Amino acid sequence: HSFFTSILNSAPPSPTKRHNKVTVVGAGNVGMAVAQTILTQDLVDELVLVDALPDKLRGEMLDLQHAAAFLPRTKIHASTEYSVTAGSDLCIVTAGARQVSGESRLNLVQRNVSLFRSIIPPLVQHSPACVILVVSNPVDVLTYVAWKLSGFPANRVFGSGTNLDSSRFRFLIADHLDVNAHDVQAYIVGEHGDSSVALWSSISVGGVPVLSFLEKQEIAYERVTLEKIHKAVIESADEVIRLKGYTSWAIGYSVANLARSILRDQRKVHPVSVLAKGFHGIHGGEVFLSLPSQLGRGGVIGVTNIHLTPKEAQHLRDSATAILEVQNQLPI
Ligand code: NAI
Ligand code: 2OP
Repeated sequence: HSFFTSILNSAPPSPTKRHNKVTVVGAGNVGMAVAQTILTQDLVDELVLVDALPDKLRGEMLDLQHAAAFLPRTKIHASTEYSVTAGSDLCIVTAGARQVSGESRLNLVQRNVSLFRSIIPPLVQHSPACVILVVSNPVDVLTYVAWKLSGFPANRVFGSGTNLDSSRFRFLIADHLDVNAHDVQAYIVGEHGDSSVALWSSISVGGVPVLSFLEKQEIAYERVTLEKIHKAVIESADEVIRLKGYTSWAIGYSVANLARSILRDQRKVHPVSVLAKGFHGIHGGEVFLSLPSQLGRGGVIGVTNIHLTPKEAQHLRDSATAILEVQNQLPI
């Protein structure tokens, strides 16, 4: 039975457009913000939600499906079973415990590593060619854990890392200078968390490098302002958690932005958590942390050869050490 009568004598040719399927594991605050941002941005043909709570999962699925008349056409599935994820191009992992106000992200590691043991193997089994994007915290350590559990090459496992911190940084700089955040280029690298590193030399507004501009104008005090802005970036998650209990919208947009670069093969540069061993003198172990990296259909294409000042490189190595201290205690 069909509402339409074919204008051909034979079956119409199948569509040639690439079919995109994305799985989001964890239908909590973050997973649902990611899912709804991906839907509104028309990035996928099929969206799959997986969670351990069947009622919440079905409720979230129905609530999104009921918006079908206002959204780009997307098939939405939800299940506690991983077979529904089969053939995903991108699997985004947001499941897990989150910190309360005043708690470090690194504190979540034991709880979330054991969850990952039940999440990563079935994802890999059903989508052996997918790219895995880790969001759960502590994101850098868990990206390493996902990489190890998946057996994937390092280019197909990465973490959302400091893509969010860099967006917060750009927002605060833009707000301070009264310009558009899109025109502010600025990177935060290293750990997504307390030891993150602000690359002062990377800051430019509309193509004008900010530090050398300030130096030429002999406006030294702005350096203090920039330090304060970085401190505000580090504290911003805790502030939001104290006020509303969790963070969701900014990470939702940040992850949808990464999903777009992957699914549409955008080859854009994002600061994301990648296997950083060998870069900028990081030799202590297989550590994942954020470096500006180019993303495309196959995952991480490469890491940008950025120039770091000796002080920035040292801060980055310190950040690697902070992550490794936690990682080395894991039985993985
Ligand atoms: P939430 O508590 O709202 O959601 C977590 C979800 O995971 C729940 O729906 C829960 O049922 C589900 N879950 C638990 N065990 C599971 C399992 N074995 N399989 C499938 N689903 C399971 O927490 P929220 O706020 O969504 O945060 C999720 C994670 O994202 C936390 O680790 C948080 O720290 C992290 N996060 C990371 C950010 C980043 O920039 N990387 C930003 C914001 C949060
Ligand atoms: C954030 O930065 C808590 O990692 C989370 O929003």
